[in-house]
Parts: sequence; structure tokens; C-alpha cells
Amino acid sequence: MKNFCQICVWDKGRRPTHLRGYDAMINDLLIRQLTTDDIESAYQVFETAIPDAFEKEGLGFLYKDLYRQIIVDKRRLVDASLDHLDWDGLFLVAKLRETVIGTISFGICGDDIKKCTDSHFHSIGELGSLYVLPCYQNQGVGSALIKAIVMHLSDQGIDQFCLDSGYKRAQKKWLKKFGAPYKVIKDYWPVSDQMIWLCKVSDFIE
Ligand SMILES: CC(C)(COP(=O)(O)OP(=O)(O)OC[C@H]1O[C@@H](n2cnc3c(N)ncnc32)[C@H](O)[C@@H]1OP(=O)(O)O)[C@@H](O)C(=O)NCCC(=O)NCCS
Repeated sequence: MKNFCQICVWDKGRRPTHLRGYDAMINDLLIRQLTTDDIESAYQVFETAIPDAFEKEGLGFLYKDLYRQIIVDKRRLVDASLDHLDWDGLFLVAKLRETVIGTISFGICGDDIKKCTDSHFHSIGELGSLYVLPCYQNQGVGSALIKAIVMHLSDQGIDQFCLDSGYKRAQKKWLKKFGAPYKVIKDYWPVSDQMIWLCKVSDFIE
């Protein structure tokens, strides 16, 4: 039997705007808009995946303050996404039964990308907060989240998105998935370059 991933995205009025399914590597994966029920479980993804990513980059011990700050920022984004007055973006979670195992967001372009592109991207939305629990990585969850958010962008008539990454391990994946970066900023981070991609939504819609 084929594995099945269900995608269900709500609009601001909390009505489903579409509900689709497709094959996935993990059975019963549900991708949906973050709700208050998911807050603690989403925080747990950040608390686990971010230190793990730093550790695997060889930065865990040296940059504890930096990754703690990233976790705080991501928690704030989760809170803001539930307070629609504060944030005009979309936050999706990948859930296995009641547990959030992955996250992704789409919102206004962040400061790092603005700085690195002389604000040329200020009107282009950024895909971010892509984190998958380490034990579920490399099993298609990240791709399923990207697919879900891109389908939503297409439905909204949005034709481009950007993203950045300084994690070397993620960069390898994004080079394969998103192709050549729009820009590479050498030594932007203590031990890595910064890569920025500009992507067409239509390239990711089947
Ligand atoms: C980066 C991350 C979000 C990717 O999620 P994932 O579930 O592990 O990734 P997937 O298995 O869905 O693979 C995503 C893509 O990476 C590429 N990929 C997978 N394995 C790869 C490998 N060994 N080498 C090169 N590319 C690879 C593929 O293009 C795949 O896309 P496809 O499904 O269309 O073929 C996840 O590994 C993670 O949370 N890492 C730690 C935090 C992090 O670095 N976040 C990204 C911040 S920019």
C-alpha cells in the first residue's frame, strides 16, 4: 500500500482553502496550518532540530547563544502567526498523529536576505522556519512541507519566493532542490557562506 500525505491549509477565516493528498515516504503525514494546539509541539521541533543542526555543523558548543536566539525568534514567529494582527504570513506544520515533526513558514523577507540583496527582494516573500525533527530527516518531510506551502502560494497567485541558508548540510539539499543560488556571500557566517535562492512557484508545481 502507498504511503499517503494529506495537505490541508486554512485561510485567515479558518476555513479550508484546499485539501489534497499525495504519496509520501512517511505514512499518515498531515500538513496543515499551525493552531494553538500545536504550539508546544512546534517549540519542541525548534528546541531539538536547531541545536542538532548546529552540533552537526560543528558549532554546537561555540555558538550556543546564537542558536538560543534563533530558537527564541522562531518561538516568537509561532506566537505572531497565531495573532493575525501582528503577522501577515503562513505557518504550516507536518504532523504525525498528534506530534509536530516539521515546520515551515512564508512571510515578508527577513533582514539577512534584505541586507545581502541591497533590499532588491523586499517585496518577495521568504520561505523559512524549515526544521524537521532529526529522527525524521531525509524521509521527504521537508519536501512535503515545501510542496504544501508552494501549492498555497500558487493558489494565492504568488509567483516567486526566496530563501536563504547558512547551514552547509541544508545547502547541499537546497542546491539539489532549488538549483544554483541567486547569490552566495562568502564567509558571511563564522564557518560557512550564505546562500540565497530566488525561485519560481511554477517550477515546484506538478
Ligand atoms: C534541511 C531540512 C529541513 C530538510 O528536510 P528533510 O525532511 O530532511 O529533507 P527531505 O528528505 O525532504 O529532502 C529535501 C530535498 O533535499 C535533497 N536531498 C535529500 N537528500 C539529499 C542528499 N543526501 N544530498 C543532496 N540532496 C539531498 C533532495 O533534493 C530533496 O528533495 P526531493 O524530495 O525533491 O528529492 C532538515 O534536514 C532539517 O531540519 N535540517 C536541520 C535544520 C536546517 O538546516 N534547516 C534548514 C534551514 S535553511
